[in-house]
Amino acid sequence: MSNLVVLGAQWGDEGKGKIVDLLTDRFDTVVRYQGGANAGHTVVAEGVKYILHQVPSGIINGAGLCVVANGVVVDPTAMVGELLELKQKGIEVDGRFVLSDRAQVVMPYHGELDRLTEMRLGKGSIGTTGKGIGPAYESKISRAGLRVGDLLTNSKLREKVKDLVERANELIVKLYNERPFDVDEVYSPLAAAGEQLAPYITNTADLLHRRIEEGSSIIFEGAQGAMLDIDHGTYPFVTSSNTTVGSVCSGTGVPPKHIHRSLGIAKAYCTRVGKGPFPSEDETEAGEKMREIGGEFGATTGRPRRCGWFDAVSACYAARINGFDAVAITKIDVLDGFSEIQVCIAYELDGKRIEHVPASATEMERCKPIYKSVPGWRDSTSGIDGFDDLPDKAKRYLDYLAGLLGIPVVIISTGPDRRHSAVREDVYRQSLQVIPNH
Ligand code: GDP
Ligand code: IMO
Ligand code: MG
Repeated sequence: MSNLVVLGAQWGDEGKGKIVDLLTDRFDTVVRYQGGANAGHTVVAEGVKYILHQVPSGIINGAGLCVVANGVVVDPTAMVGELLELKQKGIEVDGRFVLSDRAQVVMPYHGELDRLTEMRLGKGSIGTTGKGIGPAYESKISRAGLRVGDLLTNSKLREKVKDLVERANELIVKLYNERPFDVDEVYSPLAAAGEQLAPYITNTADLLHRRIEEGSSIIFEGAQGAMLDIDHGTYPFVTSSNTTVGSVCSGTGVPPKHIHRSLGIAKAYCTRVGKGPFPSEDETEAGEKMREIGGEFGATTGRPRRCGWFDAVSACYAARINGFDAVAITKIDVLDGFSEIQVCIAYELDGKRIEHVPASATEMERCKPIYKSVPGWRDSTSGIDGFDDLPDKAKRYLDYLAGLLGIPVVIISTGPDRRHSAVREDVYRQSLQVIPNH
C-alpha cells in the first residue's frame, strides 16, 4: 500500500489537522513523528471541534491506529489530559493509540526554561509556544533526557528524575536566579502519568514494520511547517525539530523505501505566529480582514496570527525540500471577499530581485515582496465540495499557484468542517496513489 507524508508548506497552521482527518479513512495508520504540544491541529467533524496537540489527528475519523513515534517530545501529563478529553467526547482511544517507548519526555523544568530563555532574550525572543519544546530537544541532543520507556522502570525512575532535576536546577538557580524544582513535585505527577500511559507504551518502530509487512497504509502527520524547520527554516526563528520530510525516517524508524508520496498543505494566503521574517506579511486592512474572516488565532496559545499573501518563493522552496507530489490549498473561502489577490513571486533584497530564501534571517527581514496581482472571484466558495463548482476565477487562482509550484492542487478546502472539502480524485490517483513494488 502507499504511504503518504502530509506536512505544512508554510509557517504552520496550514490546516494539517483538517486534511489528515479528511484523508484518514483512506489509510489505517496515522503517525506523528516530530514536535510536541506546540502543535495545535484542528479537526471539525459533524459540528464538533477538536484541537489535537499530541495525539494524531487520525483519532477522530475512522478506526485506524494512531501512533506517537520516537521523534516526538511528549508531555505525559498533558497527554493523559488530551486522551481523557477525547474519551469524554466519545472518541475510541483504547486499542487505537500507541506511544513510543523511545519518545522523549517534556519535563516541567523544560517549560520553565523555555519561559526563562525567552525572557532573557527580551526583544530578541523567538515567540515560542512556551511548551518547553526547545529545552526538551536540547536535553535529548545533549543526552540528558528522559524517555517515555523510562517511566515504566519505576524502581529507577525517581533516581533518574532526581539527577535530571538537579542538573536543570543548576541552570535555573545559577543562571536565572529562580526557584529550584523540588524532585518529588516533578517525580510524583510523572510517575502517575506514566502509570496511566503504560498500556499504550510500546516499540512503535517494530509495530510500524509489522504493519507495513501486513500491507498497512500510513499517513505521516507533520507538525509545524517547512519554514519553521530547524535547518531549512528562517533560523533562529524556527522550532527545535526538523519539520521537513527527512524527519519521517529518524522520527519513526521507517526507512525511505516505505515512504512513497509527499503532500504539502498551504493556505491560499499565509500566516505566521511568533517572531521572525515574513516578507509577504500585510499589516494593512487586508491582513486584518484575513485574520478576522479566517479566525487566525493560535490553536495552542490563542495569539493573533500575523497574516499576509501567499508566498510562492518560500512555498516553492518547501516543495523542493519535501519533494511534494501535490498540494492541498486550504481556506480559499477566506479570500472570497477580495477583489484583488496578491501573490509574492520574488523578493527584493537591497535593490536586487531574488527568487530564493536567504539563509540569514536579517537578510530575509530586509526582503520586500514582489507581487503579482490576480483578480479575486468575489463570490462565495464556502462549503463547496466539488472542484468544478468553484468560481472560474478561483479555479484560475488555484491553477496559477499549481503552475508556480510545479505540482497539482489535489484538495481544496473551503471551510473548517470535514465536509467543506473538494478532493480531485483523478489528480489524487495520479499524484498520490502508488502501488509500491516491494
Ligand atoms: P494545523 O495546525 O495545520 O492543523 O492548522 P490549525 O488547526 O492550527 O489552523 C487552521 C485553522 O483553520 C483551524 O481553525 C481550522 O478549523 C481552520 N480551517 C481549516 N481549513 C479551513 C478552510 O478551508 N476554511 C476555513 N475558513 N477555515 C479552515
Ligand atoms: P502546528 O503544528 C504555528 C512557532 C512558534 C514560534 C516557533 C518556536 O499547529 O502548525 P516552539 O514552541 O516550537 O519552540 O516555538 O515556532 N510554532 C508554531 N507556529 N503552528 C505550529 O504548530 C507551531 N509550533 C511552533 O509560534 O514562532
Ligand atoms: Mg496549528
